[in-house]
Amino acid sequence: MGSRATDLGTVLVTGGSRGIGLALAKEFARNGHDLVLVAREEAALERAASRLAIETGVRVETRTADIADPEEVERLVRGLEDAGITVDVLVNNAGIGDHAPLVDSDPERLQRLLQLNVLGLTGLTRRLLPDMLSRGRGRILNVASLVAYFQGGPNWTTYVASKAYVLSFTRGLAIELRGTGVLETALAPGPTDTDFVSRSGVGDVRAYRWLPKASPERIAHAAYVGTMAGRTTVIPGLLNRLLAFLGELHPRGVAQAVFTLLSGSATSTTPG
Ligand SMILES: NC(=O)c1ccc[n+]([C@@H]2O[C@H](COP(=O)([O-])OP(=O)(O)OC[C@H]3O[C@@H](n4cnc5c(N)ncnc54)[C@H](OP(=O)(O)O)[C@@H]3O)[C@@H](O)[C@H]2O)c1
Repeated sequence: MGSRATDLGTVLVTGGSRGIGLALAKEFARNGHDLVLVAREEAALERAASRLAIETGVRVETRTADIADPEEVERLVRGLEDAGITVDVLVNNAGIGDHAPLVDSDPERLQRLLQLNVLGLTGLTRRLLPDMLSRGRGRILNVASLVAYFQGGPNWTTYVASKAYVLSFTRGLAIELRGTGVLETALAPGPTDTDFVSRSGVGDVRAYRWLPKASPERIAHAAYVGTMAGRTTVIPGLLNRLLAFLGELHPRGVAQAVFTLLSGSATSTTPG
């Protein structure tokens, strides 16, 4: 195993089997951290784990769990406790998206989206935080999105609102945790080249057509540096930082107009 840059040991990554989560896992492993990868599909997890272990030499455990299900979150944490695995860094990365007018969207998918992106992230953090506090050290990295800075996102309202929750949750908790040794970071990637684009139906969204797509590796490197430096927010890419800045400007009318344009379908003629 490589030497670690900090006294923080094992990193748990939800959604660690592919995309940004896998790239984050690799970045932490390159820096000497052991890993626990969590996702639902076992075969993909095992493939990712054996590749990472061979490439980096760290210890990689896998756990299948649906983070949208509170009972599975509890089973996951108890299983780690029984195995004597201490989580020093929690990466709340697993998330799904959706793109459709609310009235046309699948109610079950919206439910799952909120259960995963909002409640799963909150529940796992609440469950692992007491141990981090008792050790006086830890990091929590929450994967939000650039859309968290949008002043509402027509046609993907629920996804955009879920990521605004993640950003607000992180900013609040970061202040609450001051002086405890546990630091909280929100990562806000812009469009990134992963399966999320096809699985969440965002391929036709103007933000995805017009803005350059980053590689997951580039996002993961920026996230690692920001997390270890204890930064509360990390927005990889200059253009994305400009858009996020615009999103927080007052009055919000201009930002709202820009994000309404970026939220629409590139192949439709309506602005929303
Ligand atoms: N790609 C982008 O453009 C982009 C931009 C901004 C933010 N993000 C955010 O980045 C995060 C990762 O996205 P990605 O692009 O890497 O997506 P991805 O390629 O679709 O990967 C999603 C990962 O999450 C896991 N997952 C999905 N549902 C889960 C559940 N209920 N329980 C446990 N694991 C689950 C998946 O494995 P299983 O399916 O096997 O469970 C997979 O490992 C998400 O929070 C997303 O909102 C993405």
